[in-house]
Amino acid sequence: MSHYKKIVITGASTGLGKQLAMEFAKRDHAEIWLIARSQDKLDAVVGEIASWGGIGHAIPCDVTQLDDLEIACEKIWTESGGVDLVVANAGWSGNMRYPGEKNWSIARTVVDLNLRGSILTLEYFAQKMIGEEIKGHLVGVSSVAGFRGLPKSTVYSATKAGLISYLEALRISVSAYGILVTDIRPGFVKTPLTDANHFPMPFILELEDAGNRMYRAIINQRKRFTFPKRMAFVGTILRNLPNFLFDWIGAKAAQPFNKGKFGN
Ligand SMILES: NC(=O)c1ccc[n+]([C@@H]2O[C@H](COP(=O)([O-])OP(=O)(O)OC[C@H]3O[C@@H](n4cnc5c(N)ncnc54)[C@H](OP(=O)(O)O)[C@@H]3O)[C@@H](O)[C@H]2O)c1
Repeated sequence: MSHYKKIVITGASTGLGKQLAMEFAKRDHAEIWLIARSQDKLDAVVGEIASWGGIGHAIPCDVTQLDDLEIACEKIWTESGGVDLVVANAGWSGNMRYPGEKNWSIARTVVDLNLRGSILTLEYFAQKMIGEEIKGHLVGVSSVAGFRGLPKSTVYSATKAGLISYLEALRISVSAYGILVTDIRPGFVKTPLTDANHFPMPFILELEDAGNRMYRAIINQRKRFTFPKRMAFVGTILRNLPNFLFDWIGAKAAQPFNKGKFGN
């Protein structure tokens, strides 16, 4: 049980965002504003939240449309009278290979969603919390993929690395106002996002397990949370590999992707 009662989650119609919403509904009977594009899926999540004793609000919005995102955030702030937890979770991996005809449009969406959308969501609520002296909690969902530039995840890795840096800087910037910042860095989790992957995904977790771990990391006010532990270990090794070794291993790992072995 936690003290979080009014919560915003982006990317809450499926996967990790939806699962996290369920955790807060079940355990805290929280009131949750759910952002994603699919109204029908959001309505279903609102129904599930009600069945657990929480209150859900569907906020259909494409986070890559920054004007629409601002309107959605304003609506939430007005309706809620102030929230105490914001989770910028919406994201897409946008599998890429080289050459790839769709790379330009994939890159644009991945940057707009994972980086611009996440940063602007958190910036909006950070300003509001500071202005109204709310000692809230801001959470970003980055990834182990942000630890190093990964083949097939070129732009995805870059956006997650950017988000990791942003969350670190944000934490330092807002701590004087009593606002907490958590960076959640999942390894592989079974969700619609990873269902699209046709390559080996070591240590992959079930969604319920991952949602529960994320919930506990948030209520325990972790600054950084990389999970599962075995993936955190791999990530640490990757991050500390000398450049020449990483380049060599990376080139070997990229070959099957570029030959189309794992699909696009
Ligand atoms: N699953 C993993 O293994 C894994 C690992 C590391 C990090 N992550 C990160 O965890 C987060 C959640 O991923 P997931 O695996 O749960 O993926 P998911 O099941 O595909 O969920 C993505 C969510 O984002 C929403 N979304 C997508 N595009 C959007 C847009 N333009 N505007 C608003 N919402 C949008 C989707 O809803 P609509 O389609 O209805 O808009 C959905 O609710 C992502 O940031 C991802 O990078 C996941």
